[in-house]
Amino acid sequence: MKILIEAVREQLDSAFKASFPTLEASFSPIVTKATQAKFGHYQCNSAMSLAKVLKTAPRAVAESVVSYLNENNADFFALVEIAGPGFINLTIRTDVLSNRLTKFFDGGSLVPQLSSSPRVVIDFSSPNIAKEMHVGHLRSTIIGDALARLFEAMGADVLRLNHVGDWGTAFGMLIAYLEQTHPAFLTGKSTATLSDLVQWYRESKQVFDTDSAFKKRAQAQVVTLQAHEEPTYGAWKNICAISEQAYEEIYQLLDVRLTVRGESFYNPYLSQAIDLLNHKNLITISEGAKCVYLDGFVGREGEPLPFMVQKSDGGYNYATTDIAALRHRVEEEKAERIIYVTDAGQSLHFQMLFACAQKAGLVDTQKTRLDHVPFGLVLGEDGKKFKTRSGDTERLIDLLTTAIEKSKSIIDARDLDLSEGEKSDLARCLGIGAVKYADLSTNRISDYQFSYDKMLRFEGNTAAFLLYAYVRNLSITRKVSIDRDSLQSVDFSLSHPSEQALALHLCQFQEVCVAMADDLLPSRLAEYLYQLATLFNQFFRDCRVEGSDEQSGRLKLCFMVQSILKQGLDILGLQTVSRM
Ligand code: ARG
Repeated sequence: MKILIEAVREQLDSAFKASFPTLEASFSPIVTKATQAKFGHYQCNSAMSLAKVLKTAPRAVAESVVSYLNENNADFFALVEIAGPGFINLTIRTDVLSNRLTKFFDGGSLVPQLSSSPRVVIDFSSPNIAKEMHVGHLRSTIIGDALARLFEAMGADVLRLNHVGDWGTAFGMLIAYLEQTHPAFLTGKSTATLSDLVQWYRESKQVFDTDSAFKKRAQAQVVTLQAHEEPTYGAWKNICAISEQAYEEIYQLLDVRLTVRGESFYNPYLSQAIDLLNHKNLITISEGAKCVYLDGFVGREGEPLPFMVQKSDGGYNYATTDIAALRHRVEEEKAERIIYVTDAGQSLHFQMLFACAQKAGLVDTQKTRLDHVPFGLVLGEDGKKFKTRSGDTERLIDLLTTAIEKSKSIIDARDLDLSEGEKSDLARCLGIGAVKYADLSTNRISDYQFSYDKMLRFEGNTAAFLLYAYVRNLSITRKVSIDRDSLQSVDFSLSHPSEQALALHLCQFQEVCVAMADDLLPSRLAEYLYQLATLFNQFFRDCRVEGSDEQSGRLKLCFMVQSILKQGLDILGLQTVSRM
């Protein structure tokens, strides 16, 4: 079954082409959701743009199309109207909506399926070893996970990659410092934590910047590390393991799965990457460094911007690794789509990476689509960059546990009829859900303000509002206690306008998934679910379910709301509860 908006568009397409046989085959009408309910369900403004081509008045174009639709498509549209200078407003028949819902109810996939299970690589989270994950990594983790869940639900073969920063001169520095100050670490006899590593890293940096003899030892350690020599190599592995264990604690709380494939993984491929660029004659030496100049990338004064791929001392950098990684993902992983989720500050890097890879023939963007998914900053309630009171960067684990604690006190104050175990479960779902939803519901490009109070509210566009709508829905279906399966042969009741509005919205879930898979904006789905919960509440206010003549048909609608809310929340990574 075609998604609804696509079915509408196809009918418009035939109507335009039948009415104006001279139209080129490539013409395709643009159909959008109606901006207001009084304009119907969808609208098409193509009559206006076509009028110029056809040298006819826009209204006359619209009239021909509308009369064609009235004659030929009356089994689909209940009402087709012209508004203003030539807008075409379209209202779909209720029985068309109800037939679609019946198919979904009978077990059709709620999420539209991609053909042939494409391979999608998503590079997200990706913190840096021996450093704490910061809120930027939290955003990357939450957004990347939502995208991964969407593609998984759509039937893609998703590879979730954690491109951790686990390689580079910094590790030589840290190990040289540990050799001197904590020799036990190098013999593997240490119970250090990530906080220790972060502290030592800071200290080592100070020594590195001031002591030239130490600097030499650090550089020598880099060479030893690159040669995989012990005990340096073992110490590095230990540093990675300690850091990853700390990250894992956060992933567990967030219920996020990732495959660690850090920068070090691409080490064996770095020189080949440079060779390839060389071979394609793309390398220019600038102040001793190897750079690639790409069309269209210029600095403030119009000077060409270099994409540096090898430092003047011969060392490889972030860009070298990304070129090798991209190549590996295309050639070895056979990716049909590669998605990178990082802060907007790295946008230029990724634009240049993509341009460089294309120029070098590493990727054919007809076969592999590349996307950078940038996001804005997390701001504190004061509107400044998010910090703890002491001015330090907040540790993520503290941030998440605070959200859970705060949600627990809200739950305790509500005096809910739940066991202690249920209350802690709810506190976790609500606390984590609130953090995720606050992030996902804002357009990711913008900065957003982190406020525990706002995100934990029960009213407005919040996790609690959605989870509550879900629980309320569950309690209705539980109370009527009619088996879902026994409703198979029952017709949906769509007699009341509130039921019709809800039915239309349910039918639009698929097009929201398709749109999100294209522009990678999770806020689309969040907005959809918020509207779904709102329409469901209106329906419940206007239409009696239990004991009414329409009980079965309305109950069936409730079950549909339940399935789609659940599926949508799953995609956003929000766990649901059954009581609240
Ligand atoms: N480790 C980087 C950071 O913390 C993010 C890596 C993103 N992925 C990539 N392939 N460059 O900013």
